Amino acid sequence: MSLTFLALFAGAFSLLCFYLYQKHNYWKRNGIPTIKGCVPLLGHMLPIITKRMNFAEFIRLAYEEYEDHSMVGIYKGTRPVLIVRDPNLVKIVLQSNFSNFHKNGRKVVSEADPLLSKHPLFSYGDTWSVGRKRLIYAFSNVRLKILFAVISEVCKKFDHFLNRRLKTSTKYEVDLKSLFSRYTCEVVANTLGIEGFCFEDNAEVKPLHELNGNTFEESLETIITFHYPSINRLLKFSFLPESMERFFRKVVYENLKIRRNDSTPRNDFLQWMIDLETTGGVIDEENVSAHAASLYLDGTETTSITLNFIGHDLAANSEIQKKLRKEVKSTIEKHGGLTFEALNDMTYMNQVINESQRLHSAVGFLQKMCTEEFELQGSDGLTYRIKPGIEVDISIFGLHTDPKYWVNPHVFDPERFNNVRKQTIEKMTFIPFSVGPRICAGMRMTMLQTKTCLAILLSNYKLELSPRTEVPLKISPHYFLSEPIGGNWVYISKL
Ligand code: HEM
Repeated sequence: MSLTFLALFAGAFSLLCFYLYQKHNYWKRNGIPTIKGCVPLLGHMLPIITKRMNFAEFIRLAYEEYEDHSMVGIYKGTRPVLIVRDPNLVKIVLQSNFSNFHKNGRKVVSEADPLLSKHPLFSYGDTWSVGRKRLIYAFSNVRLKILFAVISEVCKKFDHFLNRRLKTSTKYEVDLKSLFSRYTCEVVANTLGIEGFCFEDNAEVKPLHELNGNTFEESLETIITFHYPSINRLLKFSFLPESMERFFRKVVYENLKIRRNDSTPRNDFLQWMIDLETTGGVIDEENVSAHAASLYLDGTETTSITLNFIGHDLAANSEIQKKLRKEVKSTIEKHGGLTFEALNDMTYMNQVINESQRLHSAVGFLQKMCTEEFELQGSDGLTYRIKPGIEVDISIFGLHTDPKYWVNPHVFDPERFNNVRKQTIEKMTFIPFSVGPRICAGMRMTMLQTKTCLAILLSNYKLELSPRTEVPLKISPHYFLSEPIGGNWVYISKL
């Protein structure tokens, strides 16, 4: 009996070894270098699962280590994933051969994430194209001007909040991420026609920026949701917590009730979505709720992270801060106030934002999926015929700080993006919003929010680094977007 069991066990074990050997040799068989550290069954995911680094940092290290190669292979579990390094291959995947790579690698299960599954990031085909068109429509120039009025009102609340903090002391020490989260959440709340209470001092109201909880944590559930889609089809982990789904359904339901009984014409993001999702007089409430939840998810965290890093770079570079303040003040004076047009005129501000995004992009990597066979040819002579279902990852962090494309890549120098020097930037090496048909749909909205907030901040206040901030900033392994370990503490004082 025990001999039979032993024989069966040995047979099963040999089969497993053979299966793993086959799986983990996929890249070798295809002539693609594989990064070190592959563990049977887990592949290269051990440092992410054990929270030694987040996936964006892992991909950056892989990108940097294989500097002489155009492509490099890794395994997510037993699944082979290709990292493309050559800007030319990045262009093929994101832009020129979009039809071969039109799906994103990240997936959510529609039963577990009903609202999020309609989001353009997680959809493809008609669902993607319709969802994307809605956002492009909402962020057209005409509507952005309407949103600018909302953003300007939020900036007043932001200014009052800082003023209150500086009433009793000359310096206010704050973790910029938490400050900017208040701002971006209030903007989203107000564009949905609700109050976010993000700048209230009243402890009795639960402000919107506390709704996030640990949604963006690199938890085991998030790792499985984003990196092991086939396992998640069984486990059905959701990315968007149920409480958030309930919240946005309630916001839409209550807003619709108010708007049905009130004939005041509305002109805000929620109304545009209601109008677009109405057919034959019937409103698709589920779709409107999905737009509201997506706006919150997209519009709050990435923008506050971006503002957080810009604030850090300005606090650490006082001369650049002064130069930008000078531009802000003179442009506001020229336009007779902080107008939409004045913001468009702040070109040095664009340089500062771009440079900060280059150094610390909110999104560190892109995940794409091959949907149609294609021959990838690298500049180093490597060729690989990629098959449908193989994931392709791109390291935004790696490209943005590669010394091959950037002189002194870790130095903050907004002059890289001045009119002359930006012409010399190698294509596809600066992609904070991605490129091609799936380029960030909220890019214009986020730039507007970021610029308005910076203009208000710099025209009235000064930023200085607090010794509490660990410099240089290190990216937290506990978060799948970019967040500095220990926070980004600065002193804010009045000018
Ligand atoms: C600084 C802030 C932001 C950054 C750095 C950013 C970055 C990105 C990146 C890199 C992608 C491509 C993701 C991928 O292919 O895996 C993306 C997609 C997207 N972003 Fe943003 N984003 C920002 C703000 C926003 C805002 C404010 C919105 C909407 C209000 C938004 C809506 C979207 C949508 C809908 C997509 C999916 C586009 C598609 O697949 O067609 N983003 N964003």
